[in-house]
Amino acid sequence: MYLTDEQKRMLDGEYGEGTALAMRVQVGIGEAFGAERMLPITRAHVALSNQDADVWFAEKLAGLGAKCRIAPTTNPGFDVEYFNEHVDLKPVDMEQMNRTLMAYQKLGAILNFSCTPYLYDNIPRQNEICAFSESSATPYMNAIYGAKSNRESALSALCAGITGVVPEYGLLLDENRKGEILVEVEADLTNDFDYQLLGYAVPKKIGHKIPVFSNLPQMISPEAIMYLCAELNTAGAVPMFHILGVTPEAKTLEEAFGKRDYEIIKITNEDLQEVHEKISERAGKIDFVLLGCPHVTLDQVIKIAHMVEGEKLKSELWINTSAHTKDVVKRMGLLEVIEAAGGHVVKDTCIDQPIWHHLEGKLGATESPKCSYYAKRRQLNFVIRPFEQCIQGALKGEIQ
Ligand code: F3S
Repeated sequence: MYLTDEQKRMLDGEYGEGTALAMRVQVGIGEAFGAERMLPITRAHVALSNQDADVWFAEKLAGLGAKCRIAPTTNPGFDVEYFNEHVDLKPVDMEQMNRTLMAYQKLGAILNFSCTPYLYDNIPRQNEICAFSESSATPYMNAIYGAKSNRESALSALCAGITGVVPEYGLLLDENRKGEILVEVEADLTNDFDYQLLGYAVPKKIGHKIPVFSNLPQMISPEAIMYLCAELNTAGAVPMFHILGVTPEAKTLEEAFGKRDYEIIKITNEDLQEVHEKISERAGKIDFVLLGCPHVTLDQVIKIAHMVEGEKLKSELWINTSAHTKDVVKRMGLLEVIEAAGGHVVKDTCIDQPIWHHLEGKLGATESPKCSYYAKRRQLNFVIRPFEQCIQGALKGEIQ
């Protein structure tokens, strides 16, 4: 593929071994996808996982002296201090999280530790070329902001942050962003939770095609879109979709599909119900509620505080959110309210981390099919219900 002189210098090691390694990865990906050149990026987000391969690669790059030209925002691991105080944290897990932190700090990443960077910390304008990993973040960039990002891995997004470029292929090319299948939504979407089910139901019917959603409202809450994005990439791999009248590139059907022929499918109430029954455990007594996969928003934490004010929770309540949101609710006096009820508001933390040992084998509730899907491998089991029902469940110790 064609490389500029500057890009060749990176590849040849003039900017150090770390940058050269990152560039080799980028060139390899470009060649695999038939890219002809590199494009400069303005933003990146690394879905840091704090798991072995992630730590190994970040430490390798940092050890070779790599520094990010475009500082990426980063996904959560866990809040070492908070969990050390509240659960039985293993030294080996603590050490791994500290290594992750040090490696990404050395690389010059933005340590916001949030999986919803697109709501607060890393917001593009239309047509910005970006390198985003993370299941809800990439489609949110493409479909809602009209920015352009491929579905990067954590590792390739980090390399893009270091080199400041991405190979031009896939969703960076306008012709590959067009819709391929029309999804007529006949289901009644009565609350944000229904978008979780919609996101989970659609991939089974469309495979890897780019969906164009019709019959969705024009004013959809950020939470509902976040849920849709997260579940499309839990049940499937959908880095790009269109919502007619909402996606900047899809004001009309003609614009969404271009000249492509397309199939039409329908999503009904029965489809959503079927998915819900399949992925949720049966209602009953619960030991805990785990929210925030992706991270709970500021509006949602405020709502929780109002729901639990003056009450005592009967089940554990864990609310994962961004450091920014935790800070704001603390200033608002609402952190105290939730803690007085017995709840935990946790920053920097992902549900898929080795910190939930005390919940293993127990039954909990969550609003997130994604949470249930990933936490199952850690022996956490979930009844999946709308957000408000989960909070009521935490208050009563059981859920309907
Ligand atoms: Fe966020 Fe972890 Fe879920 S990164 S989306 S809390 S799996």
